[in-house]
Amino acid sequence: MFAFNYILLALSGIWPPEGLPPALLGVYVVLSTVAHAFFFYSCGAYTVGFLNCDDVDLAMGAACDVLVVYLTCYKIFVLLKNKRVINGLVYSLRHELNVSYAPLQRACRDHEEAVNNLASKVTGRYYLVLLSVDATYIFMYFRAELRGQVRIPMWDPFGARVSTGLPFLLYSCVPVSAALMSGIHTTVFDTMILTFSLLLGAKIDNLTRLLVTLEEDTGPRPAAEVRAERQRRLREAVIIHQKIIRFVDNLERALSSLSLAQLMESLATICLQGYRLTAAPPSMDEGIPMINFLLWLLLQLWILCWSGENIATKSKHLAVVAARSHWADAGHAFHVNMQMLMLRAQRPLALTGFKMVRLNYSTYVDIVKNSYSLYTCMLRMQSKNRSEKPNRSPEMSELP
Ligand SMILES: *[C@@H]1O[C@H](CO)[C@@H](O)[C@H](O)[C@H]1NC(C)=O
Ligand SMILES: *[C@@H]1O[C@H](CO)[C@@H](O)[C@H](O)[C@H]1NC(C)=O
Ligand SMILES: *[C@@H]1O[C@H](CO)[C@@H](O)[C@H](O)[C@H]1NC(C)=O
Ligand SMILES: *[C@@H]1O[C@H](CO)[C@@H](O)[C@H](O)[C@H]1NC(C)=O
Repeated sequence: MFAFNYILLALSGIWPPEGLPPALLGVYVVLSTVAHAFFFYSCGAYTVGFLNCDDVDLAMGAACDVLVVYLTCYKIFVLLKNKRVINGLVYSLRHELNVSYAPLQRACRDHEEAVNNLASKVTGRYYLVLLSVDATYIFMYFRAELRGQVRIPMWDPFGARVSTGLPFLLYSCVPVSAALMSGIHTTVFDTMILTFSLLLGAKIDNLTRLLVTLEEDTGPRPAAEVRAERQRRLREAVIIHQKIIRFVDNLERALSSLSLAQLMESLATICLQGYRLTAAPPSMDEGIPMINFLLWLLLQLWILCWSGENIATKSKHLAVVAARSHWADAGHAFHVNMQMLMLRAQRPLALTGFKMVRLNYSTYVDIVKNSYSLYTCMLRMQSKNRSEKPNRSPEMSELP
C-alpha cells in the first residue's frame, strides 16, 4: 500500500526511504541537495529571464514557467511540513478503519485489497505518463538547443548557452531539473490524493454495507441477544464513521492548500500555455512538449476533481442508507446512536481547495471553461494590438 507513492516521494528527494543505512542516506542527501540546488537556481533563472523579456507574447509564456516552478517550491514546502500528518493518514488507513464484524470481515478485506491493487496500477500508469512527458521534454529540449531554436527566456549570466562541453551541460541541468522536479512533485501530490480517495472510498463502501446489515435478519435467536448484537455493530459503525470524518479533516489539513494551488496552476497554465502556442508559435521542438504538458495538465486536473467527487458520492450514499433505515423494535440507546450517525452523515464529506472550492466534476468544467475564456480574451487583446499597429504607421507617414 502506498509503495508507489513512497518510491516517488523518495525520488522527489525530500522523503528519504525508511530504514536506509547511514552511508546510503548520506549519498541520498547529497544527491537530493544537488538536485534541489539546480532546481532553486532554475527558479531564479526563469524569474530573471521573465523580467528581462521585452516581447509581450514570449513573456506570457515565461510567466507560465515561473508560476509552475514557484508552485513547485510551495509544494515541496507543504509536503515537508505535513510529513507527519500524511504518515498518520497512511497509518490510520492501514490499521484503524477496518470493519471487524466477523461475517463481513473477509469480504471487506478482499474489497480493500482489490481497490489497493487498482490504486497501485493507476499510480504506476500515471507515473509512466509523467516519465514520457518528461522524457519528451528533455529530448526535445536538447534538440532545440542544438539547433539554436530555444525561445524560452532564461537568465544566463555565465554565457554558458553558446558554449560546448561541461558549461553547456551544467546550463542544461537548469531547465531539465525544473521539468523533472515540477513533474515529480505534481505527480506525487496527484497520486497521493487519488490513492487516499480510492482507499477511503472503499472504507466508506463497507461502512455503508455494515449499516445495511443492521436491517438484515440475524436468524432464529432470542430477541435480546439479537438486539445486543445489533447494538454492538451500530456502535462499531458510529466509531468508524467518526474516524472517517477525522481522517477527512486531517486530509484536508494536509493537502487542501495544495489542491487550491493545483487548481490555480491549472487555470493559469492552461490559458497561458494555449496563448503561447497560438500567439508566439514556438518551434516544433518546443511546441510538442508544450502540447504534452497541456494534455497532462488536463489529466491531472481531472484526477484531482475525480478524487473529490468519489468521496462526495460515497458519503452521500452513506447518508441515504442511514436515513432510509427503520428499526421498530430497537432500544433507546440504539436510536440515540443512530440519530448521532445520521446527523453527522447529513453533511457530506468533501475534499476542497482550501475550503473555498469543492473538488468535483463541476469544478473541473468550471476551471476549463474559465481558462478558455481567459485565453480567448488574451487572444482578442493581442489581435487588437496587432491590427492597431499597421493602421497607425501609415497615418504617421502621411502627416509630413
Ligand atoms: C486492517 O486490514 C488490513 C488489511 O486490509 C490489515 O492488514 C490490518 O492488519 C487490519 N488491521 C487491524 C487492526 O485489524
Ligand atoms: C465493500 O464495498 C464494496 C463496494 O461497494 C463491495 O463490493 C464489498 O462487497 C463490500 N464488502 C462487504 C463486506 O460488504
Ligand atoms: C461542486 O462544487 C461546487 C463548488 O465548488 C458546488 O457549488 C457544487 O454544488 C458542487 N457540486 C456537487 C454535485 O456537489
Ligand atoms: C501592444 O503592442 C505594443 C508594441 O508592440 C506593446 O508595447 C504593448 O505591450 C502591447 N500590448 C498588449 C496588451 O499586448
